[in-house]
Amino acid sequence: MTQLPQSLGELQAVFDRWTQSMQNIKERNDRIAFVCAEMPALLLNRRLLKKIMTDIVKGKRYPDIRQATMFSNEFILYINNQRLYSVRLYIYEPGQYTPVHDHNSWGVYGCVSKKVEVIRYRRQDDETSQGYARLRETDRIMLRPGETSVVRPLNDGIHQAGNPATDTCVMLSVYGTPIRRLYVNQYDPLQNRVSRLYPPRLRKKRLATQALETMGVIDL
Ligand SMILES: [Fe+2]
Repeated sequence: MTQLPQSLGELQAVFDRWTQSMQNIKERNDRIAFVCAEMPALLLNRRLLKKIMTDIVKGKRYPDIRQATMFSNEFILYINNQRLYSVRLYIYEPGQYTPVHDHNSWGVYGCVSKKVEVIRYRRQDDETSQGYARLRETDRIMLRPGETSVVRPLNDGIHQAGNPATDTCVMLSVYGTPIRRLYVNQYDPLQNRVSRLYPPRLRKKRLATQALETMGVIDL
């Protein structure tokens, strides 16, 4: 998806500029630094963010709320054709948090409105026991509007994000090029469990495959 509606030309201009710059930045840490430097201006552009939110309420073509996403409070704003980066918006209700999870790419999380909390974890076990994972909380970061926090891929970036307050909050995240892993890990730190979370379409295919296995051989 590259083309945004004309009314959001300002947002398109930001994404076009990021694409051009990111193509010339080869190192991962330099890309992260570039996004960290660029994000505050977008996070603090309340007029533009309110316009996006209004378009969601009105059911406009963009952002496409029918698009399947890993989390139900996630809105895809942009996926670069070359997978250089993607931009997603998250709206958290009071007290709502994601499950503890990891990512297949780096990410920069930014606060648009109210407060966003990011809690980081470190894996403590040796990963030899299937379904078992022991985590230790390492730090908690409270983001205010315009502030950002970096999330690293895989085990270096186990985290959860959410809303510690009583007002609905808004987070905007930029993610880098994903590695080829078809799922993310989802953790239950209290039960010491880890499970795989597949994207919605893949999840449905896997469910149907499992169902077919239980139904025996059939003629398709
Ligand atoms: Fe995340």
